[in-house]
Amino acid sequence: MSETLQGLKRTHNCAQLQGSDAGKKVTLMGWVNRRRDHGGVIFVDLRDREGMVQVVFSPEMGEGLFEKAETVRNEFVLAIVGTVRIRPEGTINPNMETGEIEVDVNEFRILSFAKTPPFYLTDDVEVDEMVRLKYRYLDLRRPIMQKGLILRHKTVKAIRDYLSDRGFLEIETPMLIKSTPEGARDFLVPSRLHEGEFYSLPQSPQLFKQLLMVSGMDKYFQMARCFRDEDLRADRQPEFTQLDVEMSFVERDDILTMMEEMIVSIFRATLNQEIKTPFLRLSYAEALARYGVDKPDLRFGMELVDIEDEVKDSSFKVFNQVLENGGQVKAINAKKCANYSRKDIDDLTKYVSIYGAKGLAYFIITDEGVKSPITKFFSEEQIVAVVKKLQGQPGDLLLFVADSPAVVAASLGHLRLELGKRENLIDQDELNFLWVVDFPLLEWDDEDKRWTAMHHPFTSPVEEDIAQMETNPGKVRAVAYDMILNGVEIGGGSIRIHRRWLQEMMFKNLGFSLEEAQEKFGYLLDAFEYGVPPHGGIAFGIDRLLMLMAKRNTIRDVIAFPKTQSAMDLMCQAPSSVSPKQLEELHIKCKAPKHKSSQN
Ligand code: AMO
Ligand code: AMP
Repeated sequence: MSETLQGLKRTHNCAQLQGSDAGKKVTLMGWVNRRRDHGGVIFVDLRDREGMVQVVFSPEMGEGLFEKAETVRNEFVLAIVGTVRIRPEGTINPNMETGEIEVDVNEFRILSFAKTPPFYLTDDVEVDEMVRLKYRYLDLRRPIMQKGLILRHKTVKAIRDYLSDRGFLEIETPMLIKSTPEGARDFLVPSRLHEGEFYSLPQSPQLFKQLLMVSGMDKYFQMARCFRDEDLRADRQPEFTQLDVEMSFVERDDILTMMEEMIVSIFRATLNQEIKTPFLRLSYAEALARYGVDKPDLRFGMELVDIEDEVKDSSFKVFNQVLENGGQVKAINAKKCANYSRKDIDDLTKYVSIYGAKGLAYFIITDEGVKSPITKFFSEEQIVAVVKKLQGQPGDLLLFVADSPAVVAASLGHLRLELGKRENLIDQDELNFLWVVDFPLLEWDDEDKRWTAMHHPFTSPVEEDIAQMETNPGKVRAVAYDMILNGVEIGGGSIRIHRRWLQEMMFKNLGFSLEEAQEKFGYLLDAFEYGVPPHGGIAFGIDRLLMLMAKRNTIRDVIAFPKTQSAMDLMCQAPSSVSPKQLEELHIKCKAPKHKSSQN
């Protein structure tokens, strides 16, 4: 039978003990990480949240106790009372934080037995993520996972300290709100009291934080849980955490500067790392032109280069036709990749086709000159000019895409990232921050045949572009900004519209009638009649920031209980069907054939 504490108190954490503690009597509590028998002596690595220490059970502790020690298995929970001693010469473990000492056990209790876990609870073990998620409580015992959550706590604390010191108030906003038609799909919650009506879970606290500014709260922040029913990826979860910030009486640069300083303060407090400010600012147009994407990874070069001038007089029909139709011809220089085989290039061609490219032309630069199936269409001067423009050297591979600007950007932008990874061009220790600014206000949705807000409908246009809102909506820039770290969008925000007429004009651009706008966002428009300070803000994806800080590949690794790519919680088996009675109370009839209630 397992034992209880009965007044026993922990004196130290496992990782806390050092050589200077030799001779001390200590009480430790933790899990058996590993047990080894050595000639009548039992060694156990005892583990708690802070780390591990070796404890030693020897027959001298008394017959009954040693026999009990022999029953101890991995993951049993023990309380041990023992004496710290310096390890004998030759047994010191430099790889262990407490490797200089061990604890000689005088007395111990088995607080809990444990079945053999379904996988080894060590950092380097290769386990299928589905198994890890099913047994998340075991997965979270692994030191690397514990470190991630400790870092998360410290980060959130550093943020709270930074913002509180600067006069921000942490204010909660509701979780049950009105469904809005913009943005991602909402998660809906049926109302019991109001038949046939639904709340929605917030995709972000956007409107509430703006209303807090109308209320005069001046500076607000919140660690806000957000819900979006969208297709998931490694850096997207259906519920995730934002650091949500809003400020009154500020302009764009006030926000950017304050947020840069916050990043400095977070990295200093948690990782003892100095981040340089100010961050580079790239316009959206420049980011797309040079890197093909709106969240460029600047840890390596390989920029997209426009070669229209160099090739426009060639006889290569593919390029000429594209240029005649207002398209672009751009190229990247894959340095030292001239040794790529035909198959490698075919693979890259397939890769760019995902982004719509109809082909991938190439020049292989050798000591003897340029090799390519398309050289015959170019004069010697044209070839030299292209090579020069791309700073090509013998040994390099130049890759070309000709298409619409959007396809050229997407295909070469992603190809650049793929080659950066393949060729190991990325310094994994570098932290590369930048702002992308001057986003377009609107983007054309070809499916719905209407303009949609690129950031959200409350984002202010650049003042001097307002005149074009009706005549040339696609050209209007927004006072919107994203913070990018190593090619990941970790935050985004904007200066908001604070004038009712402009907000109405924006809704009109998005194709809402005045009645529709009033029906969906009337409370905001009404609030705009009662004195609104100019305001703006930003929200950071805390999970994404932590993924990068902890150097993990997915945000699931820095969330205690995440969902799978198909939005399931494998541990609690959510989502699940509910009883017919529950549904009835909610005035809901379920059509899905799988559902229990439909089988009655
Ligand atoms: P946005 O939609 O850009 O802006 O979101 C802000 C940041 O939240 C993170 N993020 C996510 N993280 C994990 N899983 C997701 N599904 C997910 N979606 C977004 C990203 C992103 O940069 N209300 C505005 C902010 C504002 O204007 O102040 C907003 O929500 O890191
Ligand atoms: P083709 O004339 O179709 O045989 O193509 C000759 C070369 O041009 C091949 O290497 C194709 O991959 C490449 N190519 C075809 N279309 C494009 C395009 N739109 N952009 C860049 N290269 C292309």
